[in-house]
Formats: sequence, C-alpha cells, structure tokens
Amino acid sequence: MSTVRARAAAKINLHLGVGATRDDGYHQLCTVYQAISLYDHVAATPGDSWRVATRAEPYVDRSAVPGVGDNIVTKAGALLAGLHDVEPRADVLVEKAIPVGGGLAGGSADAAAALVALDQLWDLQTPRAELMGLAVQLGSDVPFALLGGTGHGTSHGEVVEPVPDSGEWWWVVVPQRDGLPTPAVYRHFDDMVPHAGTPASADGLIAALATGDPRELAAALHNDLQRPAFDLRPELRSLISLGESEGALRGLVSGSGPTCVFLCEDEAHADTVADGLRYTGQVTALTATGPAPGPAVDPG
Ligand code: C5P
Repeated sequence: MSTVRARAAAKINLHLGVGATRDDGYHQLCTVYQAISLYDHVAATPGDSWRVATRAEPYVDRSAVPGVGDNIVTKAGALLAGLHDVEPRADVLVEKAIPVGGGLAGGSADAAAALVALDQLWDLQTPRAELMGLAVQLGSDVPFALLGGTGHGTSHGEVVEPVPDSGEWWWVVVPQRDGLPTPAVYRHFDDMVPHAGTPASADGLIAALATGDPRELAAALHNDLQRPAFDLRPELRSLISLGESEGALRGLVSGSGPTCVFLCEDEAHADTVADGLRYTGQVTALTATGPAPGPAVDPG
C-alpha cells in the first residue's frame, strides 16, 4: 500500500446561533455549516512508527500547529487504531492552506481527513457511523467536517444533518496572521450576553439557501460570535466594512474568527472583490466556492 491522500475542506458558519452554557461547559448551538473549497491535504504513508509533519502556505502560521503529541491528527489516528486494536503506524504529512485558529475548523478538517485516509491505509473498512462516533470524540466541528456539503448542527455543534443546498456560493476569505482561541471568544460572549437562552433559529437561513439567490443568503447570514470577536479584534470591524465597500454582498466573521468571509454574486465578482481587498486593504484574499464535499481519498 502506497501513500493515501485525502482532502480536507474548511468550513464557515452561515448561521451561528449561540445559547446558554450547558453543565458540560459547552454552549448550546443552532448552526448551519458550509464546507468551502479551501483545502488542507492529509497524506498517510506506511511507516514503522507514528510521525506527523506539517507544511503550510505562507499566510498560515505553522508555528501555531500543535506538536505531534497534541496534534488532533494524532488523536484521530489513536482513536481509529484503538477501535480496531491495531498499532497506529504511519508517516502523516499535513499540508495546510486553512489558517490555524482561524474559525474555519482547519484542525477538525484535518482530523476528519486523517480518519478517512488512515482507514484506507490500514484497510479497516470502518462503517461510516463508527467514523462519526470517533469524530464526535475529536471535537464539536469534526462530525460536520466528515459530512461536508451544507449541514445543520445542534447540541454543541456535533449533531449534524445534511441541508439540501443546490446553490453555488462564492466567497472571498481573508485570513489573519494571528489566530483567536475559540474558548476565549466563547468566554467573551458569556461576558457580553450573560443570560443567553435558546439559540437563534436557522429557519430563515435555510429558507434563504433554498432560493439559490446570493442576495437572499447575504441578508440571512448570522453569527452571534461576531460581536465578541469584534470586541477582541476591533480591526475586524473595519475589514468587514472595507470588503462591503469593495462590493461584497455581505461580510461576516467565520465562526469564532478571526477569519472574515465575504459573500459575492458569482466567481467573477469574488475575483473582483478579492482584488479590491488585496489592493486597498493590503491583505491576503482567497476565493472559494461552497458547498464542497466531505473528505474522500484522492484517486490514483
Ligand atoms: O469541541 P471543541 O474541542 O472544538 O471545542 C473547543 C472549545 O470551544 C471548547 O472547549 C469550549 O470552550 C468552546 N465551545 C463551546 N461551545 C460549543 C463549542 C465549543 O463553548 N458549542
């Protein structure tokens, strides 16, 4: 068996309704995720021990990637090997294009892709439902990362259902050099909204998706973590205004931030907005489309 390579898509939250903190410390969520065509790649090669190496695009802070012992890919490998009572032996290379600590669930995507790649490398043929069970143990966003497409997340985000989405949505993605730790943003949400109740419903967002019209979707985008993210990183507010003045239909902080995403009419419009942001804002601006599929092993 030679190298098995799988693609891992970033996610954005089209709707992120945050409710009260639960007894287990997580916040009750009602969210709509969309996977977009900004990909990490996970390559697993047979090895005599367990190794994880990372390469990263220049705009990704490679020093923020946890070392092999704390890397979520190692946890994914250990869980999968443990399920089948095999030794976790592989050389894993993670090529990162998704910013670290960016609110795009890059680590979760890597974990989901690692499960799929290692399952094939070790010829385990784990049923999908069991992979989902491992994903839940790895983090709130990992089950959606395994599902891909567009999905509705409840509980603390780990209970996911596919959402029909036949649209082709175009986004400009503006990463930030320094990540924001998700727990810090949730803690700041608690300070700002001490009596959060039931999370805001996603019905309006799901109805907007069904129209296929980017203007309808733009009007329905919602993120309860945007205000705390703005408070922690005031410069994000002006970045969102800049993207909208460059013509984006709407700018939004992605998840807990600090990555900002801008919804556009179509591919040509996304290219124009990205050029405007690069020129006027002197920022890295990437274009991506959604929904993107969940991780699958590259053929050949
Ligand atoms: O599940 P995951 O490990 O990705 O969550 C990271 C952190 O984000 C949690 O430890 C918690 O502080 C915060 N979180 C939360 N409520 C959620 C999801 C995450 O408070 N629904």
